[in-house]
Amino acid sequence: MNKIGVIFDLDGVIVDTAKYHFLAWKQLANHLGFEFTEAHNELLKGVSRVRSLEILLDIGKVSLSEEKKQEYLKSKNEHYLKYIMKMGPEEILPGANALLDKLDNLGIEYVLGSASKNAPLILKQVNLFERFSGIVDGNSVTKAKPDPEVFLIGAQKLNLKPEQCVVFEDAIAGVEAANKANMISVGIGDSNTLHEADFNFKSLTEIPHDFFTAVIPEKIM
Ligand code: G6P
Ligand code: MG
Repeated sequence: MNKIGVIFDLDGVIVDTAKYHFLAWKQLANHLGFEFTEAHNELLKGVSRVRSLEILLDIGKVSLSEEKKQEYLKSKNEHYLKYIMKMGPEEILPGANALLDKLDNLGIEYVLGSASKNAPLILKQVNLFERFSGIVDGNSVTKAKPDPEVFLIGAQKLNLKPEQCVVFEDAIAGVEAANKANMISVGIGDSNTLHEADFNFKSLTEIPHDFFTAVIPEKIM
Protein backbone atom coordinates (compact mmCIF):
# COMPACT_ATOMS: atom_id res chain seq x y z
CA MET A 1 0.00 0.00 0.00
CA ASN A 2 1.18 3.49 -0.88
CA LYS A 3 2.18 5.42 2.24
CA ILE A 4 0.03 8.49 2.91
CA GLY A 5 0.17 11.57 5.13
CA VAL A 6 -2.31 14.22 6.12
CA ILE A 7 -2.11 18.02 6.13
CA PHE A 8 -4.69 19.88 8.18
CA ASP A 9 -5.78 23.46 7.76
CA LEU A 10 -6.42 24.97 11.20
CA ASP A 11 -9.09 27.67 11.14
CA GLY A 12 -12.42 26.09 10.25
CA VAL A 13 -11.15 22.51 10.30
CA ILE A 14 -9.64 21.95 13.75
CA VAL A 15 -11.07 25.05 15.50
CA ASP A 16 -13.64 27.69 14.63
CA THR A 17 -11.66 30.92 14.83
CA ALA A 18 -13.58 32.51 11.92
CA LYS A 19 -16.05 33.93 14.46
CA TYR A 20 -13.23 35.76 16.27
CA HIS A 21 -11.71 37.04 13.01
CA PHE A 22 -15.22 38.28 12.18
CA LEU A 23 -15.62 40.21 15.43
CA ALA A 24 -12.21 41.84 15.07
CA TRP A 25 -12.59 42.74 11.37
CA LYS A 26 -16.14 43.99 11.98
CA GLN A 27 -14.94 46.35 14.67
CA LEU A 28 -12.34 47.76 12.29
CA ALA A 29 -14.91 48.17 9.50
CA ASN A 30 -17.31 49.94 11.84
CA HIS A 31 -14.48 52.18 13.02
CA LEU A 32 -13.84 53.05 9.37
CA GLY A 33 -17.55 53.77 8.92
CA PHE A 34 -19.03 50.80 7.06
CA GLU A 35 -20.85 47.53 7.73
CA PHE A 36 -19.12 44.17 7.61
CA THR A 37 -21.37 41.11 7.38
CA GLU A 38 -20.96 37.36 7.90
CA ALA A 39 -21.14 37.02 4.10
CA HIS A 40 -18.21 39.42 3.77
CA ASN A 41 -16.34 37.33 6.33
CA GLU A 42 -16.63 34.27 4.05
CA LEU A 43 -14.34 36.06 1.59
CA LEU A 44 -11.58 36.18 4.19
CA LYS A 45 -11.49 32.46 4.97
CA GLY A 46 -8.10 30.93 4.22
CA VAL A 47 -6.80 34.29 3.04
CA SER A 48 -3.71 35.91 4.61
CA ARG A 49 -4.01 38.74 7.12
CA VAL A 50 -2.68 41.39 4.72
CA ARG A 51 -4.95 40.23 1.90
CA SER A 52 -7.89 40.17 4.31
CA LEU A 53 -7.37 43.86 5.06
CA GLU A 54 -7.23 44.65 1.34
CA ILE A 55 -10.52 42.82 0.75
CA LEU A 56 -12.11 44.60 3.71
CA LEU A 57 -10.99 48.01 2.46
CA ASP A 58 -12.38 47.18 -1.00
CA ILE A 59 -15.73 46.32 0.57
CA GLY A 60 -15.82 49.71 2.33
CA LYS A 61 -14.29 51.49 -0.66
CA VAL A 62 -11.72 52.96 1.69
CA SER A 63 -8.15 53.72 0.72
CA LEU A 64 -5.44 54.07 3.35
CA SER A 65 -1.76 54.95 3.53
CA GLU A 66 0.70 52.08 4.01
CA GLU A 67 1.36 53.37 7.51
CA LYS A 68 -2.33 53.31 8.46
CA LYS A 69 -2.68 49.81 7.01
CA GLN A 70 0.16 48.57 9.21
CA GLU A 71 -1.43 50.24 12.23
CA TYR A 72 -4.81 48.60 11.58
CA LEU A 73 -3.26 45.18 10.91
CA LYS A 74 -1.61 45.41 14.30
CA SER A 75 -4.68 46.58 16.19
CA LYS A 76 -6.94 44.02 14.48
CA ASN A 77 -4.57 41.24 15.50
CA GLU A 78 -4.35 42.50 19.08
CA HIS A 79 -8.14 42.51 19.29
CA TYR A 80 -8.33 39.01 17.74
CA LEU A 81 -5.73 37.68 20.20
CA LYS A 82 -7.92 38.73 23.14
CA TYR A 83 -10.42 36.09 22.00
CA ILE A 84 -7.71 33.53 21.22
CA MET A 85 -6.21 33.83 24.71
CA LYS A 86 -9.58 32.71 26.15
CA MET A 87 -9.77 29.58 23.96
CA GLY A 88 -9.47 26.10 25.44
CA PRO A 89 -9.68 22.45 24.29
CA GLU A 90 -13.50 22.63 24.42
CA GLU A 91 -13.30 24.70 21.22
CA ILE A 92 -11.79 21.87 19.17
CA LEU A 93 -14.35 21.14 16.44
CA PRO A 94 -16.41 17.92 16.60
CA GLY A 95 -14.60 14.90 15.17
CA ALA A 96 -11.10 16.45 15.19
CA ASN A 97 -9.75 14.64 18.27
CA ALA A 98 -11.23 11.33 17.13
CA LEU A 99 -9.70 11.76 13.69
CA LEU A 100 -6.23 12.48 15.12
CA ASP A 101 -6.58 9.43 17.39
CA LYS A 102 -7.49 7.33 14.38
CA LEU A 103 -4.48 8.57 12.38
CA ASP A 104 -2.22 7.82 15.36
CA ASN A 105 -3.61 4.30 15.54
CA LEU A 106 -3.07 3.78 11.82
CA GLY A 107 0.46 5.18 12.04
CA ILE A 108 -0.38 7.94 9.55
CA GLU A 109 1.61 11.12 10.16
CA TYR A 110 -0.01 14.56 10.04
CA VAL A 111 1.19 18.15 9.92
CA LEU A 112 -0.50 21.54 10.02
CA GLY A 113 -0.75 23.73 6.92
CA SER A 114 -2.29 27.05 7.92
CA ALA A 115 -2.16 30.63 6.60
CA SER A 116 -2.31 31.93 10.17
CA LYS A 117 0.68 33.48 11.86
CA ASN A 118 -1.11 32.73 15.13
CA ALA A 119 -1.36 28.99 14.41
CA PRO A 120 1.21 27.81 17.00
CA LEU A 121 -0.45 29.91 19.70
CA ILE A 122 -3.93 28.64 18.83
CA LEU A 123 -2.73 25.01 18.88
CA LYS A 124 -1.17 25.58 22.30
CA GLN A 125 -4.40 27.12 23.61
CA VAL A 126 -6.34 23.98 22.68
CA ASN A 127 -3.57 21.59 23.77
CA LEU A 128 -2.91 20.20 20.31
CA PHE A 129 0.53 21.70 19.62
CA GLU A 130 2.48 18.57 20.60
CA ARG A 131 0.37 16.24 18.49
CA PHE A 132 1.41 17.46 15.04
CA SER A 133 4.69 16.16 13.61
CA GLY A 134 5.24 19.49 11.91
CA ILE A 135 3.74 22.93 11.62
CA VAL A 136 3.67 25.08 8.50
CA ASP A 137 2.03 28.43 9.22
CA GLY A 138 1.80 31.99 7.93
CA ASN A 139 5.31 32.67 9.19
CA SER A 140 6.87 29.91 7.07
CA VAL A 141 5.52 30.86 3.65
CA THR A 142 6.18 33.65 1.19
CA LYS A 143 3.09 33.01 -0.93
CA ALA A 144 -0.40 32.69 0.56
CA LYS A 145 -3.12 30.19 -0.43
CA PRO A 146 -4.31 29.60 -3.19
CA ASP A 147 -0.58 29.25 -3.88
CA PRO A 148 0.36 25.64 -3.04
CA GLU A 149 3.57 26.60 -1.14
CA VAL A 150 2.18 25.94 2.35
CA PHE A 151 1.15 22.39 1.44
CA LEU A 152 4.31 21.61 -0.54
CA ILE A 153 6.38 22.48 2.55
CA GLY A 154 3.98 20.26 4.51
CA ALA A 155 4.71 17.34 2.16
CA GLN A 156 8.46 17.89 2.71
CA LYS A 157 7.90 17.72 6.47
CA LEU A 158 6.04 14.45 5.98
CA ASN A 159 8.80 13.17 3.68
CA LEU A 160 6.15 12.32 1.13
CA LYS A 161 5.40 13.19 -2.47
CA PRO A 162 2.48 15.61 -3.00
CA GLU A 163 0.31 12.85 -4.49
CA GLN A 164 0.63 10.91 -1.22
CA CYS A 165 -0.79 13.81 0.84
CA VAL A 166 -4.41 14.33 1.86
CA VAL A 167 -5.38 17.93 2.69
CA PHE A 168 -8.33 18.89 4.91
CA GLU A 169 -9.61 22.38 4.11
CA ASP A 170 -12.66 24.57 4.77
CA ALA A 171 -11.79 27.42 2.39
CA ILE A 172 -12.00 27.75 -1.38
CA ALA A 173 -8.47 29.20 -1.49
CA GLY A 174 -7.21 26.19 0.48
CA VAL A 175 -8.89 23.59 -1.72
CA GLU A 176 -7.45 25.37 -4.75
CA ALA A 177 -3.97 25.33 -3.17
CA ALA A 178 -4.23 21.59 -2.43
CA ASN A 179 -5.38 20.84 -5.98
CA LYS A 180 -2.57 22.93 -7.44
CA ALA A 181 -0.12 21.02 -5.24
CA ASN A 182 -1.43 17.79 -6.81
CA MET A 183 -2.68 16.50 -3.46
CA ILE A 184 -5.98 14.88 -2.54
CA SER A 185 -8.29 17.64 -1.30
CA VAL A 186 -10.99 17.08 1.27
CA GLY A 187 -13.47 19.94 1.69
CA ILE A 188 -14.96 20.34 5.15
CA GLY A 189 -18.14 22.44 5.14
CA ASP A 190 -20.55 23.41 2.40
CA SER A 191 -20.11 21.12 -0.62
CA ASN A 192 -21.46 23.75 -3.01
CA THR A 193 -18.84 26.25 -1.92
CA LEU A 194 -16.08 23.62 -1.89
CA HIS A 195 -17.17 21.73 -5.01
CA GLU A 196 -13.61 21.69 -6.40
CA ALA A 197 -12.49 19.31 -3.64
CA ASP A 198 -11.92 15.61 -4.41
CA PHE A 199 -14.08 14.69 -1.41
CA ASN A 200 -16.66 16.68 0.57
CA PHE A 201 -17.91 16.26 4.12
CA LYS A 202 -20.01 18.59 6.24
CA SER A 203 -17.78 18.04 9.23
CA LEU A 204 -14.93 15.83 10.42
CA THR A 205 -17.49 13.59 12.15
CA GLU A 206 -18.63 12.38 8.72
CA ILE A 207 -15.34 10.88 7.50
CA PRO A 208 -16.09 7.20 6.72
CA HIS A 209 -14.31 4.63 8.90
CA ASP A 210 -12.42 3.16 5.94
CA PHE A 211 -11.41 6.53 4.45
CA PHE A 212 -7.67 6.13 5.06
CA THR A 213 -7.53 2.36 4.69
CA ALA A 214 -9.63 1.89 1.53
CA VAL A 215 -11.04 5.08 -0.05
CA ILE A 216 -7.79 7.07 -0.24
CA PRO A 217 -5.49 4.13 -1.13
CA GLU A 218 -7.88 3.25 -3.98
CA LYS A 219 -7.82 6.85 -5.21
CA ILE A 220 -4.01 7.08 -5.34
CA MET A 221 -3.36 3.60 -6.79
C1 G6P B 1 -6.55 31.53 8.29
C2 G6P B 1 -7.95 32.11 8.32
C3 G6P B 1 -7.97 33.48 7.66
C4 G6P B 1 -6.90 34.37 8.27
C5 G6P B 1 -5.54 33.74 8.09
C6 G6P B 1 -4.42 34.58 8.72
O1 G6P B 1 -6.30 31.06 7.01
O2 G6P B 1 -8.86 31.28 7.66
O3 G6P B 1 -9.25 34.04 7.84
O4 G6P B 1 -6.92 35.65 7.66
O5 G6P B 1 -5.54 32.47 8.70
O6 G6P B 1 -4.56 34.53 10.11
P1 G6P B 1 -3.73 35.35 11.14
O7 G6P B 1 -4.00 34.65 12.44
O8 G6P B 1 -2.27 35.29 10.74
O9 G6P B 1 -4.22 36.75 11.12
MG1 MG C 1 -9.49 27.39 7.10
